Amino acid sequence: HQLVIPRDPSLPPVVFHWFPFIGSAISYGNDPLNFFFKCREKYGDVFTFILFGRKVTVALGAKGNNFVLGGKSTAFSAEDAYTHFTTPVFGKDVVYDVPNEVFMEQKKFVKVGLTTENFRSYVGMIEDEVDEFMKTDAAFLIYQMNDINEWGRFDATDVMAQITILTASRTLQGKEVRSGLDKSFSQLYNDLDGGFTPLNFMFPNLPLESYRRRDEAHKKMSQFYVDIIQKRKQFGDDEHDMIAALRTQKYRDGRPLPDHEIAHIMIALLMAGQHTSSATGSWAMLHLANSPETQEALYREQVENFGTPDGKLRSMTYEEFRKLPILDSVIRETLRIHPPIHSIMRKVRSDVPVPPTLAAPSENGTYVVPKGHFVLASAAVSQVDPIIWSNPEVFDPTRWSDPEGVAAQAFDTYADENGEKIDYGFGAVSKGTDSPYQPFGAGRHRCIGEQFAYLQLGVVLTTIIRRVELRLETDSVPEQNYHTMITMPKKPRNICFRRRNFD
Ligand code: HEM
Repeated sequence: HQLVIPRDPSLPPVVFHWFPFIGSAISYGNDPLNFFFKCREKYGDVFTFILFGRKVTVALGAKGNNFVLGGKSTAFSAEDAYTHFTTPVFGKDVVYDVPNEVFMEQKKFVKVGLTTENFRSYVGMIEDEVDEFMKTDAAFLIYQMNDINEWGRFDATDVMAQITILTASRTLQGKEVRSGLDKSFSQLYNDLDGGFTPLNFMFPNLPLESYRRRDEAHKKMSQFYVDIIQKRKQFGDDEHDMIAALRTQKYRDGRPLPDHEIAHIMIALLMAGQHTSSATGSWAMLHLANSPETQEALYREQVENFGTPDGKLRSMTYEEFRKLPILDSVIRETLRIHPPIHSIMRKVRSDVPVPPTLAAPSENGTYVVPKGHFVLASAAVSQVDPIIWSNPEVFDPTRWSDPEGVAAQAFDTYADENGEKIDYGFGAVSKGTDSPYQPFGAGRHRCIGEQFAYLQLGVVLTTIIRRVELRLETDSVPEQNYHTMITMPKKPRNICFRRRNFD
């Protein structure tokens, strides 16, 4: 004689679960893609699941991406979804700690630091850092021995994490951060990073040591940046980095950016770029190591474009770098199978109807996502959806150069909000919100680091490929580990390498 409360037919179907509060947290947390594909079979493109008490409504496919990412910020709020775990890490008065209009102004300030002029100066710096790393780090000992017959090996992610922070700090973050890496800055970074995990996302306030260290590290790191800014005020600033760019910016009402806001934006950029780029670089290297043909094609592209009469390879300019289709397609394909961010969330501020073309309870009905829910888009699903892509699990960069292929069509069809194709340049993908391919998100919260990430990844990968040949140690590319904020390769993820030439 249990009382059955009829379900409101305008609410999306709820994923079946045994435990009320936990809901589907375990299935989602262990393998979100598998969970989403299974739910789609049962419930369609729109459904709600319970995640530690939160009601999360998922909208799948290109239309689902459009629904969530193209939604109005007054209805779908990123800051309401993220601030509890980003503000303790980034700090006050920036990003999700301020109303969306203020953050949008801050995003414009950051764009000022991401100019072509700056990028031109970064190519050589990134190459130098990778070169120096290979000449000095223990991971490349065999390379340093100059023996072309010996194979060495390294952990893909350990190496990429180091190279990413070295190159990002040398370029965007600035020379003071780069030299701080050899001192206390690395430890501060690790402590801060230890507070930027799924646990922090789920449970903002736990009395854990890692939370205390996070807070302590935030204070010290913020002060570290404020000190840099003050020194530059005193001694002048002619750097090509982000601190220099932010120092010149003013809000629309004429207010300059206070030092602590510059410091906090710098921390936010550090965190936004580090795991995303190092995960992508790790996956790209693992796939290259697993695919001798792709690796050879990438190496050939370097030799054909930059080979000199004495058999060496010269440095490239930023303009030349942007015209390398094989490199472009390797990164693009890596991001298709391994978008670092598998779930993008917003908190719902007012009831929002689901377009019936996306999902509906019946012919005349409409689902409504109620205020208080979260909405979730997952490009990770639409980017490997067998309905859209042929052989979606296969790493095949050539799919991007086939003008008749699904990839090119997906790219063209969804070119921009008005349906017009726009060439955003090397590496840039569609800016429309209804594309099935959006590793950098879409809409107002879209990534602004894309061009920098392509530059960093492109120069890092080619610098390595110019010097060594890669092979995978295991039979296949490792599985994805979803237990970290950013999708990383599971261990073991070793790459074997052999020096290509004598010096
Ligand atoms: C936003 C991915 C590198 C800075 C985003 C979003 C995605 C993304 C999916 C949208 C998040 C959302 O809508 O909630 C990536 C990937 C990267 C990368 C795949 C590298 C391969 C970077 C780098 C920087 C950066 C290097 C900084 C230099 C940002 C910023 C936002 C953003 C400022 C805006 C957040 C917002 O408006 O809410 N990124 N990112 N990203 N990313 Fe990136």
